Amino acid sequence: MTTTHDDVLLRVRDLSVRFGGVLAVNKVSFEVRRGEVFTLIGPNGAGKTTVFNLISRIYAPTSGSVDFDGRALSSVAPHEVAALGIARTFQNIELFEHATVLQNLLIGRHIRRRSQIWSELVFTPAVRDAERATRRKVEEVIDLLELQHYRDALVAGLPYGVRKVVELARALCIEPKLLLLDEPSSGLNVEETDDMAFWIQDIQRDLGVTILMVEHDMGLVSKVSDRVLAMSQGEVLALGSPAQVQADPAVAEAYLGTVGDVASLRRPSSIEVAV
Ligand SMILES: Nc1ncnc2c1ncn2[C@@H]1O[C@H](COP(=O)(O)OP(=O)(O)O)[C@@H](O)[C@H]1O
Ligand SMILES: [Mg+2]
Repeated sequence: MTTTHDDVLLRVRDLSVRFGGVLAVNKVSFEVRRGEVFTLIGPNGAGKTTVFNLISRIYAPTSGSVDFDGRALSSVAPHEVAALGIARTFQNIELFEHATVLQNLLIGRHIRRRSQIWSELVFTPAVRDAERATRRKVEEVIDLLELQHYRDALVAGLPYGVRKVVELARALCIEPKLLLLDEPSSGLNVEETDDMAFWIQDIQRDLGVTILMVEHDMGLVSKVSDRVLAMSQGEVLALGSPAQVQADPAVAEAYLGTVGDVASLRRPSSIEVAV
């Protein structure tokens, strides 16, 4: 047992995974502190989503370890990760398209419930209490993310930007300690990306949720991140404040030749790439 007082919520140590001949993640180490927004950046194929999949236990590491809240995740099954307090959104939205927003949130919340099947069947007072708590939490999240207007709408009919917010809401409904956001701005326009930045800041500030994010829009990264880790080809390149990491020559070099990502990195006082 390594449970201590410490302010580290997630500790990743020497994490590696190999897919056939590809070392997708190679001896990656970092720590996410309670309450912070910690962001992974790096060109396509750097291994960022794979790190998320290792933390979520979708993949088992080839070597290394992940500790969450003082507990080794190596012994935790993928379906138990959410109940421990880790929620995530996906690079490509994953929602029940033919259910309403409310139904999606209730389903998301369900995995947090601990009651036994038999008590569900006889609808005991404990089940009724849990049901009430679920409704309360779901309504709170709907209010926080201003989804009232869409509550009874089918997800399939909603604009992409709204679906991104619904996915975020679903993750929040399990009351996570750690929220994993994989490219929250992908597919969003400038205005929607600004809104996303506000939601992320609200979630950090008002709910006290710790956030581990993968993101390529450096405007969003700089706005919301406390610390940034840059990766390339499975390895860590740099760790520091958003400004420090963007100013790191190794990071600039990693983005060379990846036109789309270089463009998104080019901001005033950010990296300038000679063409
Ligand atoms: N399930 C998998 N099987 C084989 N290769 C994979 C798998 N998942 C990811 N990879 C490879 O691992 C590398 C990192 O991918 P990924 O983590 O998706 O990058 P990023 O999210 O940084 O763009 C890529 O070379 C990718 O092709
Ligand atoms: Mg990815």
